[in-house]
Amino acid sequence: MKLLVCGGAGFIGSHFTRIRARDFGDDVVVLDKLTYAGRRENLQDVPHTFVHGAIEDPEAVEQALDGVQAVVNFAAETHVDRSIAEPDAFVKTHSLGTHTLLEGARAAGVRYVQVSTDEVYGSIEQGTFTEESPLAPSSPYSATKAGADLLVWSYFHTYGMETLICRGSNNYGPYQYPEKLIPLMVLNALHGDKLPVYGDGQQVRNWIHATDFARGIGHVLDHGEPGAVYNVGGPDECPNLDVVNRIIALTGRERDELIEYVADRPGHDRRYSLSSERVRALGWEPQVRFEEGLAETVAWYRDNAWWWEPIRSGEYRDYYARHYGKALG
Ligand code: NAD
Ligand code: TYD
Repeated sequence: MKLLVCGGAGFIGSHFTRIRARDFGDDVVVLDKLTYAGRRENLQDVPHTFVHGAIEDPEAVEQALDGVQAVVNFAAETHVDRSIAEPDAFVKTHSLGTHTLLEGARAAGVRYVQVSTDEVYGSIEQGTFTEESPLAPSSPYSATKAGADLLVWSYFHTYGMETLICRGSNNYGPYQYPEKLIPLMVLNALHGDKLPVYGDGQQVRNWIHATDFARGIGHVLDHGEPGAVYNVGGPDECPNLDVVNRIIALTGRERDELIEYVADRPGHDRRYSLSSERVRALGWEPQVRFEEGLAETVAWYRDNAWWWEPIRSGEYRDYYARHYGKALG
């Protein structure tokens, strides 16, 4: 099928584009604004048509939608810490952008999949979120993502559009921008930089490999019921400090040499946990356990300096110095 993937030059969108083009033979058009997180090289091995533009730009959206049968929207600002420091872009992309894209998809009469996050449910101390759990987002990132989800659902309810929503848990894997926990800790450990653990490091995340999330989104695109939400959670939960200690072991560093406890993130969610029975009923299940996926991910970063070197020597250095109050080595 001919598919429009918005935000396809980012981390998960590029995995999704690769899987759809390679394994399903889809003809993929990528619409991407190329923010700091969007990188053409993420797709260098993937056949696709590229449109450089924003989802909040109606002309770019109309051009990108030409002849497509479905839209999958990954385009977003995705880092919670940046949303706390500067929420403006989150409001623009998630509210105005999602609205503009929905309008384009409605005019074109095509199926629409919104990629969302478990963070819209907020934090859960015990148990696990289902699709019926109330929305209780706590950061500007998750609040604007929740707003986008509600708007998407309203287009199903009001206009009868074929909309679907996929909420993923924390993703990891190759091509993830190093502002996020796992690639940040891997690259810092490889370079001998300190590993900044927020608060007590006992916050728990539910880890899913990006290829598993991408395949889950594909299942929902192909087999999901319009109007429905599908949680796509990973097979393993892990406290942050355990994640960091595993990375230390995998990079051959000494256990207590590098960890540095730093000020906690404001409003930091303690735990995320997602049950995925509905998408499992469509025939999906995760294939990558955390232990194996983390080892492969560390190896990928070790072997692919061509990918992260330009990032780690560019604007990311300024972001890092601003956010952590110290320069990268
Ligand atoms: P990312 O930050 O790596 O990539 C985002 C992509 O969107 C980039 O290519 C960027 O250039 C593009 N983009 C940003 N604003 C745009 C705009 N206005 N118009 C067009 N393109 C724009 O993000 P990711 O981690 O791959 O996340 C993709 C999606 O998955 C997001 O919607 C995110 O909320 C969701 N999600 C992410 C995770 C995670 O752990 N990373 C977990 C669950 C859900
Ligand atoms: P992150 O990768 O930003 O994802 P999210 O906040 O969307 O879950 O962070 C994952 C966890 O790691 C979260 O509990 C915050 C923590 N963290 C640190 O302890 N230190 C860091 O430098 C970063 C970036 C995150």
